[in-house]
Amino acid sequence: MTNICVNKLSVEEVREHIPLTNEYIYVDNGSTTPVPIPIMEAMNEYLLEYCTNVGRGGYNLAVEATKNFDLAREYAAELLLNCKMEELIFTRNLTHASNIVAYALEHQPLDRVNGMFEYGKPLIKWEKSDKIITTVMEHHANFMPWLRLSKNLGIEMNIIEPTRDGILLPETFLEIVDENTKFVAFQHVSNSMGTIHPVKEIIKTIKEKNPSALVYIDGSQGPGHLPVDIYDLGCDFYGFSGHKGPLGPPGTGGLFVKEDILMKMAVMELGGGIVSDVTLNDWELQSEVPSKRFDAGTPNIVGFIGLGRAARYVAQEIGLKAIKEREHLLTERLLDGIRNIKNIHIYVPEDSAYIGGTVTFNIDGWKCSELSLKLAKDWNILTRAGHHCTIPLMRFLNVLDKFGGHIRVTFHYFNTEEEVDTIIAAIKACNKA
Ligand SMILES: Cc1ncc(COP(=O)(O)O)c(C=O)c1O
Repeated sequence: MTNICVNKLSVEEVREHIPLTNEYIYVDNGSTTPVPIPIMEAMNEYLLEYCTNVGRGGYNLAVEATKNFDLAREYAAELLLNCKMEELIFTRNLTHASNIVAYALEHQPLDRVNGMFEYGKPLIKWEKSDKIITTVMEHHANFMPWLRLSKNLGIEMNIIEPTRDGILLPETFLEIVDENTKFVAFQHVSNSMGTIHPVKEIIKTIKEKNPSALVYIDGSQGPGHLPVDIYDLGCDFYGFSGHKGPLGPPGTGGLFVKEDILMKMAVMELGGGIVSDVTLNDWELQSEVPSKRFDAGTPNIVGFIGLGRAARYVAQEIGLKAIKEREHLLTERLLDGIRNIKNIHIYVPEDSAYIGGTVTFNIDGWKCSELSLKLAKDWNILTRAGHHCTIPLMRFLNVLDKFGGHIRVTFHYFNTEEEVDTIIAAIKACNKA
């Protein structure tokens, strides 16, 4: 991989790459992020200069497209997760990643191995006494696939609760994980409370209690916002959204799977581009790059070329540590400015060590969606309001009926201190209204 050595991009430079920052205070980064111009340029280059399919044609342009598509996977894998490209499946989003895993947990792989076309061993040989564990904080994308799985298999799903201020603790997992626990799914960073959970410690606790339990991490709000070292975390699966922290285009995401597990997974989608042979009676999946077994059909080539460029942008040209530190700084500034406002309810961890780049809140007398619209209309502040696809958590927090959920501000590197101060002033003004 080529390492670009450039001076790190300043906040101002990044803002120049994101024209909508001239007009709006964009703090809906938890939902999706704007795409900086250099990333669009890489996508345009593909569309204008070598827009051909990948892994198929032998002429120059097709070879160039394949080379750049592979390079994009390499950049995304190494720079966002610190893993190998062979272990990174390209997905449409985090939701797609969860569903790929859920399919593989319910189906046996079918492939020609040693000349025999037959079902391989299931990833997990489920028994009625087995358990799946997830948490009350999860996004629906990291909850519904497991609920369906547990229903289909007729097994129990245990739900872990966080602390009242939204932290998942290793000791809670220690109590609940046992020898019947076969699969555990939980988030890295909360989209509804902003918590950066102690993921590494939790995974260690799970694996010490039951080494055969497989662990899936929903990293939708992680990579791009902070450095991630997948092997250090120790999980088996890690999904992420390319269109959030990494500043990649919509329609992109990824799923890390440990290499030995990947080769044993049932493939959800079958079709062109993933096989080394097909006869009238069987097929043989390619095994050169295991992650490409999940690339059936023409992939979102332009999107993933954008994601590869975005990985370099956030990791090499800005720096993931710098992004994490800046988001934390902006978050603390906002919290300092609103903490003592009368009638405000804030839903973030009390201990600053767990705080990431998100602040969620409500003000008495306002439905969150109305307040969000007011902020947009009067101050051009773009927030997200509602349940954030975490309805069970909204019930846990008791905010669904009274407020309709809560308002969310999620920062990225390009947000400024001045913007934070405007948000504080706007919240104060609304509180008087
Ligand atoms: C924690 C979390 N998980 C999953 C998702 C779903 O991500 P995607 O839209 O990429 O499928 C989101 C999106 O907001 C999220 O914040």
